[in-house]
Amino acid sequence: MVSDKEDNRKVKSINDSLTECMRIVKHEDINGGSRLFGGRLMQWMDEAAGICAMRHSGSVITTAAIDNLQFKKGAYIGDIILLSAKITYVGRTSMEVRVDVFMEEMKTGIRYALNRAYFTEVCIDEDGKPLPVQYTIEPETVAEKAEWEGALKRIEMRKARRTEGY
Ligand SMILES: CC(C)(COP(=O)(O)OP(=O)(O)OC[C@H]1O[C@@H](n2cnc3c(N)ncnc32)[C@H](O)[C@@H]1OP(=O)(O)O)[C@@H](O)C(=O)NCCC(=O)NCCS
Repeated sequence: MVSDKEDNRKVKSINDSLTECMRIVKHEDINGGSRLFGGRLMQWMDEAAGICAMRHSGSVITTAAIDNLQFKKGAYIGDIILLSAKITYVGRTSMEVRVDVFMEEMKTGIRYALNRAYFTEVCIDEDGKPLPVQYTIEPETVAEKAEWEGALKRIEMRKARRTEGY
């Protein structure tokens, strides 16, 4: 659904760009210890975040930053992996996308959290220069409002890291 908002940008529902992808861990995805490669999981997460940001903005995007990436649990061959990507904040040219990763147990359907990260995706033109995001979001639920507030703090932390180099 699209409607008007105070900052003159159209509002898109967060659910319109909610992106869920399933994967199965195959031989080519594992390392010497028979576990899913961290790099492979990061690739899948980057794809999910990028698809979510493209669906929200209707624009070409690039990944500017990834943070809070923590590996909580390993995954193994044959495991079913669910990636869920959701817009949490929209800036002038950038969007923050939260990606949650779960392993879904085949027999029970129970989902175990493996990983979570926040991606900063920037709309770009054909020369790779940042472009304004055409649509914003209007957080409605308590969780969505908390994510927006959290994003404002994370943006300050990213700025501090960039300027102070830590
Ligand atoms: C992302 C990129 C387009 C930003 O270009 P830039 O000239 O630095 O643009 P700006 O300084 O105007 O920043 C544009 C937006 O990106 C955000 N941004 C830029 N660098 C960022 C970083 N390191 N972390 C978080 N946000 C960042 C800015 O806060 C700004 O957001 P806003 O407009 O919503 O306030 C540019 O740095 C780039 O092309 N990087 C390489 C991206 C890439 O190749 N990714 C694939 C993985 S290798």
